[in-house]
Amino acid sequence: MEIPRGTVQTQTFFEQVGGEETFRRLAKRFYEGVAGDELLRPMYPEEDLGPAEERLALFLMQYWGGPRTYSDHRGHPRLRMRHAPFRVDRAAHDAWLRHMRDAVDSLELPGDLEKQLWDYLVYAANSMINTPG
Ligand code: HEM
Repeated sequence: MEIPRGTVQTQTFFEQVGGEETFRRLAKRFYEGVAGDELLRPMYPEEDLGPAEERLALFLMQYWGGPRTYSDHRGHPRLRMRHAPFRVDRAAHDAWLRHMRDAVDSLELPGDLEKQLWDYLVYAANSMINTPG
């Protein structure tokens, strides 16, 4: 499509980082880490981590301006409430972020985009803590 001169093109963060494929790579790599983590793995109720990987990918796509498939399936995210059944203490937080750091690194995003993504994940992980210690 031809874009008239003077038109400001705005892209969502979702688009800037490469769209769905990027978020799927992120979630896949993250859950590969979780699968081998002796603290986190037992927290995930399902035998198969595939559905959890799908939920995380869809949530992150939606959060960053992509399709709203997550909410079509799951309703309002209410993430703190959804994490209430799990013991999210400092150790779980640290383990979660460690696997997420590895997953973010694997994307090899431009520095400014990587920083935006990482800063959000750090903030979100901190806000998910529901158990002292
Ligand atoms: C801080 C440490 C965290 C731990 C230990 C943790 C653990 C878990 C566990 C055990 C589940 C249930 C598995 C499932 O049914 O999907 C879950 C679900 C989920 N988590 Fe986390 N989580 C953490 C942080 C986060 C953060 C920071 C985000 C978002 C940025 C997030 C996003 C999600 C999403 C979207 C789901 C699926 C919710 C649903 O639709 O049911 N989690 N998490």
